[in-house]
Amino acid sequence: MAQVTELLADHAIADPYSHLAGLREAAPLYRDERLGAWLLLRYDDVRAAFRDSRLSADRVSPYFERRRAHGAMQRERATFEVLTRWIVFTDPPRHTRLRKLVEYAFRPRAVERMRGWIASLVEELVEELGTDHELDFIERFASPLPVRVIGDLFGVPPENRSDLTRWSEDILTLVFGAMHSADRHERAERSLREFSEFLHGVIAERRVCPGEDLISDLVAAEERGDVLDEEEIVATCVLLLFAGHETTRNLLANGLKAILEHGSAAALASDPSRMPDAVEEILRFDGPTKAMWRQVAEPVEYGGQRIGPGERLLLVQASANRDPRRFEAPERFDVARRSNRHVGFGYSMHYCLGAAIARLEGALGLGAFLERFPRASLATDTFEWDPLILSRSLKRLPVRLG
Ligand code: HEM
Repeated sequence: MAQVTELLADHAIADPYSHLAGLREAAPLYRDERLGAWLLLRYDDVRAAFRDSRLSADRVSPYFERRRAHGAMQRERATFEVLTRWIVFTDPPRHTRLRKLVEYAFRPRAVERMRGWIASLVEELVEELGTDHELDFIERFASPLPVRVIGDLFGVPPENRSDLTRWSEDILTLVFGAMHSADRHERAERSLREFSEFLHGVIAERRVCPGEDLISDLVAAEERGDVLDEEEIVATCVLLLFAGHETTRNLLANGLKAILEHGSAAALASDPSRMPDAVEEILRFDGPTKAMWRQVAEPVEYGGQRIGPGERLLLVQASANRDPRRFEAPERFDVARRSNRHVGFGYSMHYCLGAAIARLEGALGLGAFLERFPRASLATDTFEWDPLILSRSLKRLPVRLG
């Protein structure tokens, strides 16, 4: 069915779920002329597409081809150098090689060891909230927590945290499709140059004086004669900041909003062992990523439609996670939901590498906040969302602490 699916219309940004339900129940897929893409909306199709090796994750090469045609390549050198090396945009065999090297730092035992210091970062932030009556949860808690976690993971000092935040926000405007931001290419390019330069400096230091941090681990992999070169280390660190910051910020913010709106705070504050299930439900119900792109490499068929090489597919997680064919009462926010096999972290080969860290930050962050402020409430009933295709991102979340 060819039409414009209006994913960026005001009502679809405010409430993508009702909008997507209407589309999903009318047809299994759509051709959106304005996006120049096919949209997959049903759970089984989205999951199948995530593991379909005929679909390529490299959606940046075609993008750079188009930019080249506009004569932008020289001006966007850093963007090109970094983004083409991101593991999330690569296919095998390159993906297999990069993933194996980076995965080491994220193995379950390594992440479990992070529990202690993530808990202390959370405590530090809860303390800093003090006794303010009303505050923006995003500015004071949801955004700083992941930056502190990643900064510590990289082993960079606290004074670099504000730079990390700015760099991450500028890259976001490009990668998550902030069409409204006219200078997004320039901002991303400037920040990528600065951040890459900063990382080259840190790498040089770690070669001389290695520490117990992720950058030292990646440098050691390179020096052992494995296959990560310095540009790949830089690109991987940029990806980890970008992938880990905005998404986790939105997990915490969308999560607190859902918990407070649905009256689940008291139960979770009194029994923190329920937090991990609650985090899974947040990821399903109102998760940080709404959709992911794929590029057709070999012909595929979805929803009875043959789709040829060169076409683009949008795998709409926000629709799949509310598909009544897979989830019972999908519109209900149920922090005790069982068998919650959502696709909030993607699926298969590119399954989120940081999922275990994000889950820890979600459970520890929201758990500690609710324990300290069991009577917290929303200070508004109108919410402003960023008009983005891929990300579900609130601008602010005003909260009364109780
Ligand atoms: C709640 C928070 C998060 C969500 C919802 C999320 C979501 C996702 C999704 C949907 C993908 C799959 C992309 C695709 O298939 O094209 C992905 C991949 C990835 N994520 Fe996350 N992410 C989160 C947090 C993090 C964190 C904290 C890190 C690291 C510190 C991280 C690092 C990565 C990396 C490196 C990949 C690429 C994996 C690959 O291509 O093999 N993510 N993430």
